[in-house]
Amino acid sequence: MKAVFATQYGSPDVLHIREVATPTPKANEILVRVRAAPVAFGEVIARDFRHVSPSQFNMPMAFWAMARLAFGLNTPKKHILGSQFAGDVADVGSGVTHYKRGDAVFGYRGQSMGTHAEYVCIAEDGFVAPKPANMNYAEASGLPYGGLTALNLLRKANIQPGQKVLILGASGSIGSAAIQLARHAGAQVTAVCSSAGLAYVKALGAEHTIDYTKEDFTRNGQKYDLIFDVLGKGSFAEIQRSLTPNGVYLLASFKMKQVFQMLRTSRSTGKKVVCALSSEKPADILELKALAEAGVLKSIIDTCLPLEQAAEAHRMVESGHKKGSVILTLAAV
Ligand SMILES: NC(=O)c1ccc[n+]([C@@H]2O[C@H](COP(=O)([O-])OP(=O)(O)OC[C@H]3O[C@@H](n4cnc5c(N)ncnc54)[C@H](OP(=O)(O)O)[C@@H]3O)[C@@H](O)[C@H]2O)c1
Repeated sequence: MKAVFATQYGSPDVLHIREVATPTPKANEILVRVRAAPVAFGEVIARDFRHVSPSQFNMPMAFWAMARLAFGLNTPKKHILGSQFAGDVADVGSGVTHYKRGDAVFGYRGQSMGTHAEYVCIAEDGFVAPKPANMNYAEASGLPYGGLTALNLLRKANIQPGQKVLILGASGSIGSAAIQLARHAGAQVTAVCSSAGLAYVKALGAEHTIDYTKEDFTRNGQKYDLIFDVLGKGSFAEIQRSLTPNGVYLLASFKMKQVFQMLRTSRSTGKKVVCALSSEKPADILELKALAEAGVLKSIIDTCLPLEQAAEAHRMVESGHKKGSVILTLAAV
């Protein structure tokens, strides 16, 4: 099969198309013929992990060290990147009971990667589900990463109807899903992003928008019950001005400094810092499918490019300002 392959860390130019063996599904696995597979934040980081320093990594040093071991010290262990996919079941293992050849599915392989290829295997009880009926393959392929992460992290905040929620990094994969999920929970959502993303976050349902290049939201006098910081760009010293007395500053990206702030504020009755890691379970992908089919979750596509243009797709994602998913396509979507 054809795959986007890398034998060394580096710029998008290390990616090239190579013929590799098609995987064979184990007894409990399905083989999926991939039609669409996005390039997201994780792939860009993994492609050049050797050159990502601990300070550039948006997580504590220990996480960086674990990721460095997982991705490979000097050369990549994962030659085929890609964590999300949508496609059709091409074959099933002998013990598979829920899927048959031809079923349209979407799924998530997380750090196992390998979806930027014509075929991928996944356990039938893993992060895979029938494709939402109201989405095409490209749209469905863009749902899992941002959707699963936002769903899990926002669960930790237990949003109540009527609460005011501000999302920082709102136009990215996680932020886009968070806007929609917070609205669904009944919150009034304010999305913070750069000028180019304002229309995009409004279209996703944000009631208020703030352009961080023009306005510092921590100085406008507004108070929020939850401030969700996807990239961990904020500082609690400033952000606490914008929190209600029991407000929560929820971070998807954080360093040890914020972990200590979390420990300190967890003992107080007032404003809290929460550093959260997504702990998604396979059942969550079924919830994403249901939310998509109910019209709660939209999946916006920035660009679709053929597999051969993987390097260009990485460059677009690396720019940090895509609006919606950048998707590699392998067949009609
Ligand atoms: N906790 C967890 O379990 C978990 C899981 C997965 C990922 N993560 C973390 O999530 C982060 C990636 O999130 P993502 O995939 O959503 O990223 P993404 O799709 O690359 O989006 C990031 C967004 O942030 C915006 N941005 C850039 N600079 C900003 C600034 N100064 N202020 C406000 N917004 C800014 C960009 O949009 P603009 O054009 O508007 O600037 C961009 O759309 C990583 O740090 C990763 O470590 C955490």
